Amino acid sequence: MSTDSHPGPLRVLVFGAALRAESTNARLAALVARLIADTGASVDLATMREFDMPLYDGDMEDAEGLPSGALVLRDRLERCDAFVISSPEYNGSVPGVLKNAIDWVSRVRPQPFKTKHALLVSASPSLFGGNRGLWSLRIPLEHLGTRVYPDMFSLARSYDGFAEDGRLADPGLQRRLTETVQAFLSLVEADARYVCLQRRWYEFLGDRTGAGVTQRAED
Ligand code: FNR
Repeated sequence: MSTDSHPGPLRVLVFGAALRAESTNARLAALVARLIADTGASVDLATMREFDMPLYDGDMEDAEGLPSGALVLRDRLERCDAFVISSPEYNGSVPGVLKNAIDWVSRVRPQPFKTKHALLVSASPSLFGGNRGLWSLRIPLEHLGTRVYPDMFSLARSYDGFAEDGRLADPGLQRRLTETVQAFLSLVEADARYVCLQRRWYEFLGDRTGAGVTQRAED
């Protein structure tokens, strides 16, 4: 169990996985960030450009360690309880930019994807909304120990999908996205608070023998 469970508001990193300035996935990420902030959680909204890094190269890693963009992503993952990725689908799969970032950051120890909760969403002009890409994205994340939320959200016909105010043009889809985000946060909250409650219960019993006791709540 992660040792960074805390009694404050949940902290959620949100980012769109496309580099282009007009990215609809960046817009979807911004909308999800608003929905998360509405619940009182703390949001760290990032862009993929902030995680700029070269292609993974084992020789470069041996010589120089991780590139700065990978370290930025590592730091921001370490500071969150959960993360949300809004990713386009390229050729039925994960965009290379995103997979490359996951590969670099997976080299860090302790490995920062482990035990984090993740919600995956996508936007695409196609009729499937990029949903196949999200199924592919589950594989590296679940391999790394991320708790990927079972439900996902994919916005089809994304170029016409947003209203002027940044919400989804279709009220039914807006409602479904809101409910998905809220259900995801409830699960994250239950997990984070459970560890805090366990710790408080042991301490209430007066058993203050220190590390051994606290560890029982963190194993
Ligand atoms: C795509 N696109 C795409 N869309 C899709 O639904 N299924 C696919 O397999 C692909 N394949 C694909 C490959 C490549 C190389 C590109 C550049 C694009 C379209 C893609 O989903 C669309 O460009 C993104 O949804 C746009 O996302 P942003 O940039 O608006 O976030």
